[in-house]
Amino acid sequence: MIGIFDSGIGGMTVARAVEQLLPNYPLLYLGDIARTPYGCKSARTIIEYSINNTRFLLENGAKLIIIACNTASSVATDRLRQEFNVPIIEVISPAVEQAIVCSQKGRIGIIGTRATIRSGVYETKILAQQPEYMVFSTACPLLVPLVEEGWIAKRETKMILRRYLHSLKERQIDTLVLGCTHYPLLKHLIQPRIGRKVTLIDSSVAVAEYLQNYLAGQTVLTPDGSHDPTRNRYFVTDITESTQFIAAKIFHRPIDLQPI
Ligand code: DGL
Repeated sequence: MIGIFDSGIGGMTVARAVEQLLPNYPLLYLGDIARTPYGCKSARTIIEYSINNTRFLLENGAKLIIIACNTASSVATDRLRQEFNVPIIEVISPAVEQAIVCSQKGRIGIIGTRATIRSGVYETKILAQQPEYMVFSTACPLLVPLVEEGWIAKRETKMILRRYLHSLKERQIDTLVLGCTHYPLLKHLIQPRIGRKVTLIDSSVAVAEYLQNYLAGQTVLTPDGSHDPTRNRYFVTDITESTQFIAAKIFHRPIDLQPI
């Protein structure tokens, strides 16, 4: 079974992409809604929460973990790999690979939470492969709460996005990495504001494709031809008014969220 965790509901964009690409692999999701957001917390706290989440998924049968959160991926991946003897897949490297392939002019923008941007992990990984590229990063701390509130079409969200994207637009980026698993839900607002010619890199799709390649070369997890993706289990540490609404929006069907 594939175990996926996020600080909240954003990681469901990854779960959905995995479900679509690999429908025959049973999946278990944990959204730590009670402690979201992670993006404004210290590395120590994010690591502690990530260890709790991984332990829960392993105790419930997961054999491989996807950290469906850029914030946790940036600061907790090494520690999780030391602590747990199972494959741990993070969301940053697959998005970096796609951004490098897609960028024509070598001008890449990154948006993410404060913790992700502060970690500098995207710049480090891109410049390690392409030292001549220019990477411009902007922290967008207001976007996660707006998504968690379900404000994905409001005027206020559009105004805030315009403000966040302004400097990246001025830098004439040709590729923009959505460095937070909540942001694919705002794609339809980001694209017209950053410009139609800018390629958006959605880390949920990037990680699902990466996982597909990974699974092809291993034998720990095998597909189950009779598996029905609607039987995948979705756990959350809290349920708020908008949780059910956003989950249904991501999956295009009602999701039975189980509180723990
Ligand atoms: N989904 C998380 C990420 O990808 C952000 C949410 C949070 O700040 O907890 O970074």
